[in-house]
Parts: sequence; structure tokens; C-alpha cells
Amino acid sequence: MQGGEVDSVRIITLLDDYAGFETSFYAQHGLALLLEVCSGGKCRRILLDAGQDAAPILHNMEILGIGPGSIDAVFLSHCHYDHTGGLVGVLSAIGREIPVIAHPAVFRDNYTFKPFLRNIGVTLENSQEAVKAAGGQLFLTGEPFAIMPGVFSTGEVPRRIDFEDQGIGTYNLEDGHITPDPLRDDMSLVVNVTGRGLVILSGCGHAGIINIVNHAREITGIQKVAVVMGGFHLIGASEERIGKTAAALDRDIGRVIPGHCTGLAAYSEFSRTLGDRFDSLHVGKIVSVP
Ligand SMILES: [Fe+2]
Ligand SMILES: [Fe+2]
Repeated sequence: MQGGEVDSVRIITLLDDYAGFETSFYAQHGLALLLEVCSGGKCRRILLDAGQDAAPILHNMEILGIGPGSIDAVFLSHCHYDHTGGLVGVLSAIGREIPVIAHPAVFRDNYTFKPFLRNIGVTLENSQEAVKAAGGQLFLTGEPFAIMPGVFSTGEVPRRIDFEDQGIGTYNLEDGHITPDPLRDDMSLVVNVTGRGLVILSGCGHAGIINIVNHAREITGIQKVAVVMGGFHLIGASEERIGKTAAALDRDIGRVIPGHCTGLAAYSEFSRTLGDRFDSLHVGKIVSVP
């Protein structure tokens, strides 16, 4: 059981597919969220994902007045290039050794033939060796894993919900054989805020956002969820799946704030069914609990 709690968390959107209204932020397909977690008067900064490139993240941080050197750890939600592409660039800007937490399979290739044959996993520039050389101390595990008391990775998420898809049709090659890749490396971050409940942060949510919420509740024994936020990967999902997802985001969940790969169809359904519990992400958006 994952224990501990923190006094507060502030989540600053450093990169998303949308830059927001009347801003000079840069947007790019990808995600990077900066968590500022405070406990007992001391605050730590954890970066969830590193977008596709470091440049827009560093540009947006400069506008926000946040120095890269203030980042204490990086958590990678999964292998995809739009979440890991800026890793070495960001680590180089940080300029010192810090923990990088991810799944042991995060450095594998992940192939798709849409729109043409390519690897959408970690790029060559972000190989395990390059990450280490840039100061990343790797903590690779698929089990629930604490970064500090009250802040932890879900580890691999069991896929139990029947309407949530297994992977996105990408595959791998093992000894010349094609094997479907269900993206088992998809993990989320969970923060337990005193008196408020869980803050659940997904990268792309490939494990299924309802599976992720259920798993976070299971490994903490806490039912109350203050915020579910991040990529829900419902772009191109069926109307039925989107409808069932919206219905499953129960009343014990305070705020639902999807972004990145969630898609407009899901936004519209969430807005209709969740009312003011729904909000969407854009670069510069800050969410605080409490
Ligand atoms: Fe993504
Ligand atoms: Fe992804």
C-alpha cells in the first residue's frame, strides 16, 4: 500500500498541444507537467514527461520564471517520443544529476506504420546511455514506486475495464516476429494531498483513464480523488467509449482536466456530462490542490 501525504501540490503545464488564448507560450504535440509538491514547509519539483523537444519547454519555463535547475526529478509516463523527446535537452539544462523514474521497458522501440513506418518510442538522442551521460540517474520499475512520501508512480496498471482499448495498434519486432505492444509501460503519477484526496496525473493514459483511477485507488486505499489530469488518449475513440468513460468519472472525482491527446469529441462529452467539474489543459495552466 502506498502511504504518506503532502500539504499541497501545484501543477504547472509546461507543454501541451494547445498554447492557450493571448499567450506567447509555445505549443507542440506532447506533454510536460511540472509538479511543485510542498510538505512540512519544503517544496520539491518533479517534471512529468519531457515533451517532444526541450526548446519549447525551456522557452515556456523562461516566460513562467522557472529555472530548469529547480527541477528535482523527472518521471516518464511511457516511451512515446512526444513525452520523452526533450529529456536529454531538459537534463542538460538542469545541469546536475537527478533521478529519472520510468518503466524498465521504456527504452524499447515501438513501431507504427501510420502514416508511414516509424519508431514512435524513445529517440536515439534519448538512449539510456545519453540519459545517463546527461545526469539522469535511472530508477526503472513497473511496480508502484515512491518518489517522496505521498508522491508515487502507479507502476503498471491492470487493464480490467472492458471498454478501454489495449494499446493503440503499435507493435514490436522480436527475432523478426511481430508482437503487438499494449504499452504496458504506461504509468501515472499520484499525489496524496492531506484532506483532499488523490491527484492523478496521466501522460497519454494508454492504460485507460478509468483503469488508472481504479488502480490509484486500489494501491492507496483512498477513494476520494481531487483531480484527474493529463492525456486521456481518446482521440479517435468510439462515441461509446467516450460516453462510458464520462459516465465512469464518478462524483468522488472533484475535477477532470484532460489535455494533449484527449481530443475534442471527449472534451465536448465531458463538458456536457461533467459540467463545471470539467476543464481542459493548455500551456501555462496552473492547477493547485488545495
Ligand atoms: Fe502522447
Ligand atoms: Fe503516447
